[in-house]
Amino acid sequence: MAYPRSSLVLALLSMFSSLVLASSVTYDVVSLGAIADGKIASSVTYDVVSLGAIADGKTDSTQAFVSAWTKACASVSSAMIYVPAGRFYLGQVVFSGPCKNNAITVRIAGTLVAPSDYTVLGNTGTWLLFEQVNGVTISGGILDGQGTGLWACKASGNGCPSGATTLEFSNSNNIVVSALTSLNSQMFHIVVNGCHNVKMQGIRVTAAGNSPNTDGIHVQLSSSVTILNSKIRTGDDCISIGPGTTNLWIENVACGPGHGISIGSLGKDQQEAGVQNVTVTTVTFTGTQNGVRIKSWGRPSNGFARNILFQHVTMQDVQNPIVIDQNYCPGNEGCPGQVSGVQISDVTYQDIHGTSATEVALKFDCSSEYPCSGIILENVKLTYNNQVAQSSCANAAGTSTGFVQPTGCL
Ligand SMILES: *[C@@H]1O[C@H](CO)[C@@H](O)[C@H](O)[C@H]1NC(C)=O
Repeated sequence: MAYPRSSLVLALLSMFSSLVLASSVTYDVVSLGAIADGKIASSVTYDVVSLGAIADGKTDSTQAFVSAWTKACASVSSAMIYVPAGRFYLGQVVFSGPCKNNAITVRIAGTLVAPSDYTVLGNTGTWLLFEQVNGVTISGGILDGQGTGLWACKASGNGCPSGATTLEFSNSNNIVVSALTSLNSQMFHIVVNGCHNVKMQGIRVTAAGNSPNTDGIHVQLSSSVTILNSKIRTGDDCISIGPGTTNLWIENVACGPGHGISIGSLGKDQQEAGVQNVTVTTVTFTGTQNGVRIKSWGRPSNGFARNILFQHVTMQDVQNPIVIDQNYCPGNEGCPGQVSGVQISDVTYQDIHGTSATEVALKFDCSSEYPCSGIILENVKLTYNNQVAQSSCANAAGTSTGFVQPTGCL
């Protein structure tokens, strides 16, 4: 909102400075550039088709998108990039800032299509990357990552590239993503890394339940991120929350298939930023591997997770509905015989109900050196095969209030 104010201020300043000299002349602020509609005039629109993009799904339109971005970013007033209906084939595109304005909207009516040959993006990391931008909105559209070829390669063994994240925001502020669909990403669908103030709503993520490393939304080293009203069906975590995430709000998300909503893996590194103030409310897990999970490597680290709230959660046939696992050590490499240094504290589970697909519906396996503390279970009801499910706790302290089944083992 700084932008419209500053343009009005400029108009007023230019009026007053002239008034000193010529009091009999009238200066109309509108004629000096003020706009009376109370918002920013979206003064320029760049249509990718008029810049050479071709909506046939196979002609490489990368250059047209790059040139639309270059113009929008260089514009001193707010700008829109418009992608009409149709399929646009794109290689890697880096939307780099800083820009001359802080209000760029990318409005997508059509579909952006990634190379189906996974060697094209290979190990580049990201297909569509926004970095060092401030005030970018992406509205609508389908991103088709065409990941099935890479998944098949990974399933059949070796020599495959790691693959690309579909959409990433890196070191950016004031981002909005709404009504966006991400299909069949090669790797993660959406990554938020090193950002402040990001709002995502109406996101649809779709990939096969057995697709590898296709996390829906991954957030790390970021503050004030909000994820609302979204449906995520994928092969890995629906939402994964990495080190350095603070003030994250997740509300009204349906997850499944997938591995649930996971804080972690934390504590991979010795020196690591903590996770703080995460709220997950009104979410549904359907047939997922986990529900709400906190996970850390079983090795030394100064990382932590604190002030976490999981609230109003429905579990349908979830293998591990509530889980804290501080002994993560894939392949038993780099951690045998060690314990997690990650301190987990003040985690509340409130109004969590539904069905577990395994006998143990609640498992707290905390660090022996830094036990979990301040765990609160309040109104939890999880059943397995129409019977009360089981719980299992190690190194976890806290309290149960209200109706709690399985009975807490805190
Ligand atoms: C926690 O995060 C929410 C946003 O998710 C924010 O509104 C609130 O102020 C934060 N609380 C603290 C104590 O920082």
